[in-house]
Amino acid sequence: MCGIVGYTGRDQAAPILLDGLSRLEYRGYDSAGLAVRDGSAPAEVVKALGKLYHLADKTDQGRALPGTCGIGHTRWATHGDPSMVNAHPHVSGNCSGSGSGPVESDVVGVHNGIIENFTELKEKLLRHGYTFYSDTDTEVAVKLVDYYYKKYKIGPVDAITRTMVRVRGSYALALMFRDYPDEIFVARKDSPLVIGTSEGASFLASDVPAILKFTRQVYYIGNLQVGRIRPGEVLFYDLNGDEVQLPLTEITWDTAAAEKDGYEHFMLKEIHEQPRAVRDTLNSLIRDGAVDLSATGLTDDILRGIRQIDIAACGSAWHVSVAAQYVIEDLAGVPVRVELASEYRYRRIPSSPDTLVIVISQSGETADSLAALRVAKERGALTLAVVNVIGSTIAREADHTLYTLAGPEIAVATTKAYSAQLIAMDALAVRLALVRGAITEEKSGELIAALQAIPDQISRVLEEKQRLQWFSSKIANTHDIFFIGRGLDYAISLEGSLKMKEISYIHSEAYAAGELKHGTISLIEQNTLVIGVLTQSSLFEKTLSNMLECKSRGAYLMGLTTNGNFSVEDSVNFTVYVPKTDEHFIASLAIVPLQLLGYYTSVNRGLDVDKPRNLAKSVTVE
Ligand code: G6P
Repeated sequence: MCGIVGYTGRDQAAPILLDGLSRLEYRGYDSAGLAVRDGSAPAEVVKALGKLYHLADKTDQGRALPGTCGIGHTRWATHGDPSMVNAHPHVSGNCSGSGSGPVESDVVGVHNGIIENFTELKEKLLRHGYTFYSDTDTEVAVKLVDYYYKKYKIGPVDAITRTMVRVRGSYALALMFRDYPDEIFVARKDSPLVIGTSEGASFLASDVPAILKFTRQVYYIGNLQVGRIRPGEVLFYDLNGDEVQLPLTEITWDTAAAEKDGYEHFMLKEIHEQPRAVRDTLNSLIRDGAVDLSATGLTDDILRGIRQIDIAACGSAWHVSVAAQYVIEDLAGVPVRVELASEYRYRRIPSSPDTLVIVISQSGETADSLAALRVAKERGALTLAVVNVIGSTIAREADHTLYTLAGPEIAVATTKAYSAQLIAMDALAVRLALVRGAITEEKSGELIAALQAIPDQISRVLEEKQRLQWFSSKIANTHDIFFIGRGLDYAISLEGSLKMKEISYIHSEAYAAGELKHGTISLIEQNTLVIGVLTQSSLFEKTLSNMLECKSRGAYLMGLTTNGNFSVEDSVNFTVYVPKTDEHFIASLAIVPLQLLGYYTSVNRGLDVDKPRNLAKSVTVE
């Protein structure tokens, strides 16, 4: 993970770098650091532990660090604990304990990614007289560049490409060389990196929002490419050191979407943006009353030829996949296999051109999901990316791309991106079902009408938020929560449980309700909270029985069901209703109270809702 930024131009770099890092903090917040240079003077490094405001305070909001060229980093620790000495930037020479101060080194750099063979490279460098002050793989990478730079007396670009040939793993690297004032050199493999230019200035960042305030003209540097960044001018090279031309892309969306807009937290704002995110995504996929996938390039012929669908994803996107599995199989009759991307990539699942492998990812950069996509392509499958971030690596590498239109999501715990993914997968299921003759035109029309009603229905669920706020205050000191459900209700439970645990730090598990009796029920004690999701007619009674089995062993029960469908009030302690819709699409409504429950529980426990400990939003490491 980690976020990197860079600036070279006429203005003071440090405030610009801090501004950029503030928009990348979702990528990590264990420590942060800047290296800024003033003309040909050596770079000055400042680091601070913890969230970015410590670094901003330490540098007087950047004013205490003069210079017009610099790089910055916000860290999510991988190699080496979150300490001052392990914080970036790293230098090619020696470094004092705090790592801050003027840099008497030839190379200084920041890195996002993981250098997998760093131990072997470190040994090589030790043999050549280098010493190491940190536990990081980044220090090794910076020193390896320095080694080639000096050994062969070659320029920065060639020193970097030689390093890239030796290094295994992933990286977005930004480096400054003492001999090249006002220039930043970057290299990329499998970690996101975007370069922006404007009149007299250039920028780099792990993600577009970090530079959008300053420019809309960006280059997406390719894998295994190097960039030479000067004020207002950028040159790109391939691994041979030959110059390559990259297209300049204009970003058309706005930064306003990345502001809090009066809400206390980004998560609450994003929960409330769900009707809009779902409506926009749906509108982009529906034309004249029918699902239209032409923007993705998936023709009806292609859809008709599919024999098997595999879906690979991580985290909440995997939960969307589990839900989509039920919907696609039930509506379209196509077999669906759902895999965690981190598992899929190492399995030998046979694929052929009639297998559609779908990779779902908000960021479009998750390392395991990207690897799953590449493995699927190697095996000859047809690939579809369902991605939120436009221009991201997964979106660019897939054969077909379906963009969800949730807009930038800042809170680490996903809400609106999850909902946009769900609705996109539902729309895909309806089209698949229609073109394969599993449903009639009339049924397709009914299903689409149901999908189109969902944004307003989500708004109605949001109107009930006070009840969830009240209930969360009752459960704020609970130690364990079990979410249970069957079928689609199990998929909803998985996401509800994740929302709860990731931001409230309350231990929580989701179980397929029928599995409880095979072990988990022994964990039920007096007042253990069991949340049952009961939206599926054919499974309602069975899940309710499982809940009552828990109640008879002391559990405190919450039931989540649909309005007027089922009566659970007599059986459970607290009931939450959501409006009725076609049962295939209920996850879009049932998830909202569970998001609110996680949110308010975190608030009640006084936690940092938007930046939960140990997590990051974009996971670009394995
Ligand atoms: C992280 C985020 C989750 C997200 C998962 C997959 O763990 O905190 O919210 O679901 O990564 O991310 P992606 O960007 O691939 O959807």
